[in-house]
Order: sequence, then structure tokens, then C-alpha cells
Amino acid sequence: MRTETPILIHLEDYRPSDYLIDTVDIDVRLHPRETRIISTLALRPNPAGRPHAPLVLDGDELALLGLTLDGSPLDSAAYSATPAALTVHEPPRRPFALRIETRIDPTANTKLMGLYRSSGVYCTQCEADGFRWITYFLDRPDVMSVYTTRIEAEEDEAPILLGNGNPKESGPAGPGRHYAVWHDPHPKPAYLFALVGGRLDRVSREVTTMDGRAVSIAVYVEPGKADRADYALEAIARSMRWDETAFGRAYDLDVFNVVAVSDFNMGAMENKGLNIFNDKYVLASPDTATDADYAAIERIIAHEYFHNWSGNRVTCRDWFQLCLKEGLTVFRDQEFSSDMRSRAVHRIGEVRTLRARQFPEDAGPLAHPVRPRAYAEINNFYTATVYEKGAEIVRMLRTLIGAAAFRAGMDRYFADNDGRAATVEDFLAAFATETGRDLSGFARWYERPGTPVVTIEGHHDASARTYRLRFRQRLPGAEDSPPLVIPIALGLVGGRGPIAAACERVVGGVFVLDRPADEIVFTDVDERPVPSLFREFSAPVRVEMVLSDTERLTLLAHDNDSFNRWQAAQSIAMRLIVQRTKADAPLAEDAGSDAQAFVEALSTFLDAEALSDPAFAALVLGLPSEGDVANEIGVDIDPDAIHRARRTLRRHIGRGLRKRLEALHAALADQAEAAFSSDAASAGRRALQNATLDLIKAADEERGTELAVAQFTDATNMTDRLAALSALATIPGEAREAALQAFASRYADEPLVLDKWFGIQALIPENDTIARIRELQDHPAFAMTNPNRVRALIGTFSTANPTQFARSDGAGFKLVADAIRTIDGTNPQLAARLLTAFGSWRMLEFERRSQATATLGEIAATPGLSRDVADILTRTLA
Ligand code: ARG
Ligand code: ZN
Repeated sequence: MRTETPILIHLEDYRPSDYLIDTVDIDVRLHPRETRIISTLALRPNPAGRPHAPLVLDGDELALLGLTLDGSPLDSAAYSATPAALTVHEPPRRPFALRIETRIDPTANTKLMGLYRSSGVYCTQCEADGFRWITYFLDRPDVMSVYTTRIEAEEDEAPILLGNGNPKESGPAGPGRHYAVWHDPHPKPAYLFALVGGRLDRVSREVTTMDGRAVSIAVYVEPGKADRADYALEAIARSMRWDETAFGRAYDLDVFNVVAVSDFNMGAMENKGLNIFNDKYVLASPDTATDADYAAIERIIAHEYFHNWSGNRVTCRDWFQLCLKEGLTVFRDQEFSSDMRSRAVHRIGEVRTLRARQFPEDAGPLAHPVRPRAYAEINNFYTATVYEKGAEIVRMLRTLIGAAAFRAGMDRYFADNDGRAATVEDFLAAFATETGRDLSGFARWYERPGTPVVTIEGHHDASARTYRLRFRQRLPGAEDSPPLVIPIALGLVGGRGPIAAACERVVGGVFVLDRPADEIVFTDVDERPVPSLFREFSAPVRVEMVLSDTERLTLLAHDNDSFNRWQAAQSIAMRLIVQRTKADAPLAEDAGSDAQAFVEALSTFLDAEALSDPAFAALVLGLPSEGDVANEIGVDIDPDAIHRARRTLRRHIGRGLRKRLEALHAALADQAEAAFSSDAASAGRRALQNATLDLIKAADEERGTELAVAQFTDATNMTDRLAALSALATIPGEAREAALQAFASRYADEPLVLDKWFGIQALIPENDTIARIRELQDHPAFAMTNPNRVRALIGTFSTANPTQFARSDGAGFKLVADAIRTIDGTNPQLAARLLTAFGSWRMLEFERRSQATATLGEIAATPGLSRDVADILTRTLA
């Protein structure tokens, strides 16, 4: 790697902009290779800025074609223009207008930032700093302006022209051309700017907001796919209604448009009034989308919509405050999904994601605070920590102050900061004012990287009838830092169910641990209880407490907190897998006697509850993933040993439950409705049916193959078809290859469905997988330039196939490194994202670790690496 030190931007260096821009009139003449942009900015000195400062507008790879100030061309000595900046040396000390003309090539734009073309459709992505690829600007979120956008294009090429805000006028613009003008009355930062031009189909409907505004909502998709846009459209309507009920937030424009494009670096983008989406999170039909896809579409539609308040009306002062909009909006979309679906099931899913993605990030070389203090490349900070841990902080805040005070604090936050670019301090101040509480201790959650560990010991005194719980907290690697404020939702459980016991330190079921160590005492406790701790996962910590399997089974059977019931089963399974990993006994020697009690408990559980809550039952049957086990063990990881251990336990469970699984599988298949429904209840039944299929297969491959082949052939929806294909994919042989073939030809024209097919093959835990993936890279449907394809094949491999990615011969690392180097030349953001898969390399055992170091070294030696990749690489190796 070129050894120049990366330029770091520091939070403490923040100072207000020297200039403000009140209005932006932007005129965009779309052309595949020569798009012209004429931008007129109403500028004025910022009273809070430095007097007499030069005006420095940001650019990136821009060429200046024309410049006037208040209508007159500027003397060439009065300004300087480079691809990265336009500087006016001595601008007037009064309001003035700057007219800037630039020209860009949207077709050559493979970075997918700024203005680019996706399958011929012109679209934009300006967060975090893409607007500067379009025109020179003060591209920082605390500069907020009212935008008027005029878009002009060939009528044939782009019959649809969309911008931010409300449509104002449209009409012909010379032979074969037309234009549209959009006006957004709400001041916004440049990162929320968007436009779209192209040939698109549309579904739409009217909704009326709580304050009586008629809003036309619409979803635009690739021609011919309108029938797959209805689910997203209805999800918009549900999101709007929910934000009114849950947070009192109404929509504030006459139209709300969502556009699906097929080349997109992230999930979606909340541009004001014009959300642009990765089509993966819009298009759905029973034949092409799984239940997980439906849920993801609903969640992401909601997420982007909710940004209209948490992000757009109240935006971020600077990019260090990213969690202010992202953590908060994730929290809001989680609450929405919980209300639309099963709260307990949804919470378990959130925590699984947090532990799978955020905990390892926080434990590895890419760890950073939820509010980072410095960055070299901001696009590398759209992380699980900022998003998911950021959401957990908001959730803890609500737990601490209670739902009513939380809602009042949110109202105050929106009221006090509407139209402003705010900070984390502004957010916390709203709640501090509302409740009269000092939240300065709580604020440490934003500053401290790392996952805290809470150690707990319990002691029952039979004669005093008391139960004492001792708590200690520590932050690994930062043992001396002041304590965090940790809300612990808890209760006691006995052999017949929850125990009512008194403890004055527990208020509303929550004890707040805000010291390094503390203890609490419950009185009137007759039997020795089992503590149910961190109910609903009330804080993002690791819990250390010695509980026996018997005690855990008490929780599984009798706790009234669903999350902890699931956690109890997971903890037992984890112990059993870790033990087998460490012993690494050959399969034949493992009689599974230590798993007997667990299998019996699962069997009782299934008899009593499987059919009343199938979604929950499916989660209880699911073992921790190989990645979860690696994170639990933490050092000297041998992925093969983990894989064998997990497979052995699955086989025991499958064999032990065999009769019940077969009966359940049959019963659930019978219950399947004739007409597909994407609702949570139907999805839950499918989830359980597929969980049983998977365990039957683990017990008996022949029987599993037979059931899976039948299900694959008869499936009437993508969830069942894909589950059958996944089951078959880990059994080498004819049946697998035939099913893969059949699937590929059936969906030959469906890129998003082929992504699932790429992903399933990337997951095969066999030595031939590397060769298979290299071959798939040449498949006509694959393209290194499309982020969805790359993530499906290479991303799935690197993040979810640990035995092959971390092979001891280094072939897995090399495969991914080759892809990263290729992609870095066209799309640095995507390449950098792929590279984060190496974030846990230090956990591996010696040989694999050496291979990882060698591969990272080879990437580092590549000439001309992007800043994005260089930044991740430097931090990964540090
Ligand atoms: N604000 C978008 C979202 O919520 C993410 C956009 C990030 N884009 C980027 N290039 N870093 O979800
Ligand atoms: Zn977001």
C-alpha cells in the first residue's frame, strides 16, 4: 500500500460553515455521456462563520464549464477550480448568486455515487458526499437549502422525470425532449438531493394524513414488474399510518415516490419525497420472494419513510452524528416491524443480527464508538455499530425512562430541532429536559467502543428467604473507564413459573446497573429461583453467569419472557457445540448423552407449543450458527472443528426428535393455505416446516433428500422452494445438481432470484466450492459491477461459509481478495465492504491467521487502491 498517512477528519475540529446557501436552482439536462448541470446558488456569509473567509465549494472529479457571480463572469484571478474544489477567493460580504456549470458522464459512473445510470435509468445517490460528483457545493449536512430542480431529457429515453418535493410543471423542451420542474419547500442538506429519469412502470394510490393532507404515494419499477410493487406500496401506507400513531409524525408533501433500481450500493436512500431503493427491497411476488424478503421490504420501506422525520426534518450537523438518524431510525423500524408482526420473534431476529454482525465488529480491529471521533472515509462508517448498536442505545433510553417519557422526549426532540442539523447532545437534551434526569452517564454509550461484559452471581438463602444478585461490569480493553448505565430487565423463575418476589431496586421490572459493581436482594423467596436476566435483551452486553442446563431448562419451560426462553435453548446448544468443538471427537464416538435432557425438553416444548406459535418454535429449534460459535470461543478458531461439532449436535437432535419432526412436517404441509399469504402467521408455519425439514435431513440424509425433492417440486412459493434447495445443497450428488439446474433454468430471467441461487452455492461447505464460485463468476447472469450479484456470491461466501472462506490453504481468502482488487477499480465502496469480512482474522488459529495476513499483505501491495479500501485495510492490519 502506498504509505501516505490517511487524512483523518476529527469531530473536535468541527466548525460552522463560513457560508450558507438559502436556495438552489438546479437544472439538469440528462444525456447518457454528457449530462449538463447548471446550478444557481443563493449564498450569504454565515454570521457564525469566519469573516472574510474564501468560499470553498466541494467537488469530486468535476470539470468547471462556466461560472458567474450575480450574473457577471468572474475574473480568472478571482477564483480557482480543480476537480476537487471551486474556490472564490474574496466573495462579497453580502448575499450573492453563483451560477455554476458542470458536465458529467453518468454512463461512466460505476461507483454508483452521484448521478449514474442503472439499466438505463438515470438515478442519484448523494449520501454521504455524492452531490459533489454532480456540481460544486458546500457538501456538508449543516448547510440546508430550499431546492428547485428542473430535469430535461429525451422523451423516449426518460418519459418519467422525478425530483424532490412536489411536482410544479412539465412540458415539451424542443424536438423529442421534455422537462419537469420539482420544488421541495423543506430546507435540506445536499445529501438528500435526488432525481430520476427513465422508462419505468408505476403503481400508486392516495392516502390521507392525520392532518387531512391528500398524498399520492407511488412505487416506480422496471417496465413489466408493476405487479411486484404492490406489497411495497401497501408497506408505505402502513408506515405512514404507524408513524402518526406511534410518534405523532405526519407526512409533509403532496407526493411520496419510491423508485427501484437494480444497481445500488446499499439498501435504500431516504431522499426527500423521492426514496431510491435497491430493487431487492421493493420487488416481491410469491414466486420470487421469500418470507424473509417480504419482511425485509416492509422494514426497509418503513426505515426510509421514517427518515422523513428522523433524518430529514431533523438532520445531522456532521457525519459524526450519523447514529442520530440511523440508530434512531433503525429503532423506529424495529418497533414498526414488531407491531406488524410478532414482537418476540422480531426481537430475537434483531439480537441475532446484532450478535452476528455488531459484536464481532466491536471486538475486532474495525471497532469504533457509535459516534466515531475520526474518520478517513465516511462511507466506511455505515456500520452495524452505528445502525444496530445505535438502535440499542435508543431502546435502552426508553427502558430507562419509560415509554411515556420516551414519547414525550421524542416529541420535544422533533419540536426543538425541526429544520435543524442536530447532534447527539441535542437528542439527549430533549429527554433530559423532559424527565429532569441527568443523562450524562448514559451518554457514554455513544463514546465507548466494545461490548461490555456483565458478570452475575446469584445466592439463595433458604433460612432468610432471600435471593441476592451480584453484578459486575467491565469493558474489555478499557477496564479503567467509568461505568456504563446498563438497564437490566429481570425477574425470578421457579419450577412452576415466574416468582413474585420483592426488591426495591427493581422498578418496573428493571434494575439499573450504573456502578462498576452492585448487588440487589429479593425478599420472600422460598424456593431457589432461576434468574431471568436481560429480558428482551435489555442491553447490548455479554452476560457471564454460571447456570446449569437444568436451570436453563427451567427458563425454557417456565419463563414468561420469550426472548429468554429462546436464549436458554441457545445457551444450552452453544455449550454442547463448544464442548464438542474443543473435544473434536470423531462422529462415531459421540453418543450425545450430554444432549439427552435438552432433546427431551425440546420434545416437550414442541408437543405443547409448536403449532400454537410456529415462528417461535422454529427459532427455538435453530442452533447457533457457526459464526456465533466462533464468536463465543473467540480465539484459535478452527472453523472445521466448529462445523463438525455443530453437525453432530444437529444429528443428535434430529434423531432424538425424529417422530415429532416427521409429524410436524406433515401437519404443517397440510395446513398450508391454497392461496399464498405473506403475513407473519403463514410465514411462521413455513419457517417451522422448513426447520423440521432441516433437522430430519440432519438425522437421515436419504429421508431428507426425499422430502426436500418433493417439496422442491411441489412448492407454490419461493420460501418453500428455496428451503428445499438449501437442504439439498449440502448433500453432494445427483439430486442437488439436478435441483440447482432446474432452479437456474426456471429463473433464468430473474436476477434477484438467481442471487439466491448464487448464495446457496456459495454456502456449500465443501472443498469444491472455490472452483464452483470461480465458475459462477463467468455465469452470464453474474457481473462484478452489480452490487447485488457480488454480495450474493462473494459476500455470502466470505461472511457465511467459514470453513471454505478461512481454509487453511488460503484459497478462500485469495478468492475474495481477487474479487476485491477487481471491484476496487470500478466501485470502491463495494470493495471496501467486502473487505470487512477479514475483520475477524485475528480470532483464527495460527495457520489460517498466517494465510489471512499474507492475503491482506497482497491486497496492500496492489497499486492504486481506493481510499475506501485503504482505510479498511489499514485499520484491519493495525
Ligand atoms: N441513509 C441510507 C439508509 O438508511 C444509507 C445510505 C448510505 N449510503 C452510502 N453511500 N454510504 O439507510
Ligand atoms: Zn437509514
